[in-house]
Amino acid sequence: MGERFDAAVVGAGAAGMMTAAVAAQRGLRVVLVDHAERLAEKIRISGGGRCNFTNLGASPTQFLSRNPDFCRSALRAYGPGDFLDLLRTHRVSWHEKHRGQLFCDDSSESVIRVLRRECEAGGVHWRMPCTVRDVGRDADGFRLDTDAGPIRAARLVLATGGMAIPQLGATDFSLRIARQFGLRIVEPRPALVPLTFDADLWRPYAALAGVSLEVRLSHQAPAAEGGGQRARRPACAEFLEDLLFTHRGLSGPGILQISSHWRPGDPIRIDLAPGRDMGSALVAAKSGSRQTVAAALAQSWPRRLAEAWLGTAGETGGGDLAGLGGLRLADAPDRRLRALAERIHGWTLWPTGTAGYKKAEVMSGGVDTAELDQRSMESRRCPGLHVVGEAVDVTGWLGGYNFQWAWSSGVACGRAL
Ligand code: FDA
Repeated sequence: MGERFDAAVVGAGAAGMMTAAVAAQRGLRVVLVDHAERLAEKIRISGGGRCNFTNLGASPTQFLSRNPDFCRSALRAYGPGDFLDLLRTHRVSWHEKHRGQLFCDDSSESVIRVLRRECEAGGVHWRMPCTVRDVGRDADGFRLDTDAGPIRAARLVLATGGMAIPQLGATDFSLRIARQFGLRIVEPRPALVPLTFDADLWRPYAALAGVSLEVRLSHQAPAAEGGGQRARRPACAEFLEDLLFTHRGLSGPGILQISSHWRPGDPIRIDLAPGRDMGSALVAAKSGSRQTVAAALAQSWPRRLAEAWLGTAGETGGGDLAGLGGLRLADAPDRRLRALAERIHGWTLWPTGTAGYKKAEVMSGGVDTAELDQRSMESRRCPGLHVVGEAVDVTGWLGGYNFQWAWSSGVACGRAL
């Protein structure tokens, strides 16, 4: 038999707690199940411990999905302003850090506390830690076989998020159960993740680990891509953000952003001096200059970067760049300086992979939005089954968008249960 509920929500993270709180406060009998020992670990570690819980500019433009419009109605019904109202009610203060990104003044624990209290206000029943061994369905609704006994529920909400950071207990539970009930899945992959390179090719840059600078990154999707894929991946993505050199490759906000668009085999293009005309600047700086080309570049970049990057550009960039770093700027022909500038503004690299789910902030892909009603997050194929949060094929940019999607999809679902 098992205890009976109106709705069972599996996953007590950002989207699951929001769904459960909203549904329970409408008077539904809701059970929230999670296998973790500690509540909402991803909220706790997010934003360096201060949780970048939304972005003031959140709109469908900052989300990747096979159907980029899918998130529109949930974001309209519950946007950043609504979440701020909720934080105000609980006297949580925040600040804006960068381009609309909002963080807690205190710590991300405040956001967890707000969601837990909202669940308590609705009388949500908790099963945690609790493992769901099996899920079945009959005329009476869903049956969950858990290590805390059987649970029966008229509706089931899959809210176990994505597979990023398995060391924190992330699993593919939602995708597995969605598949079990016949829902299509858009291939999941790590996103907002560092990019890696062939170890031999990267060796000259490995010494630059820790160097960071603002760059413009762009990615062009191959022209041959099919219609469906193109809709999911804009033809061209561009970000002006910081880049960070690591021992194995590249990271930093700019790379994390571009990684959500990148696919194996694609190049990425980096403008190492965005907004400047390096060709004209180097040629103009020649007259009377006694410094080397490397020293001239070191006025705009960290010295380590200027020397190592110029050395490698010299080895791989052909005749015009060979030995240029050690040459006096005044002696360098304009043609060679302009060739160098071209390389600086259009450094093209072919990553060989990503750092994987262990280092990713999110999973892109997930339950295909074509399977779900955008107002209720309910499956069209399997009535009574809902999917929310990161498990859905809706992936936000870096900057608070993924939490906003968790809140918006959770509220949409909680109101519709
Ligand atoms: P979420 O991951 O929050 O919750 C899923 C829950 O399901 C967890 O409690 C888990 O224990 C549970 N679960 C998993 N498998 C289960 C199973 N088999 N059985 C039972 N329970 C199971 N986003 C953002 O907008 N701003 C930010 O600052 C950050 N920062 C950030 C830092 C780091 C290091 C990471 C890894 C991620 C971020 N994110 C972020 C992304 C953000 O954390 C993420 O998109 C949301 O937490 C997704 O919310 P969900 O509720 O969908 O999943």
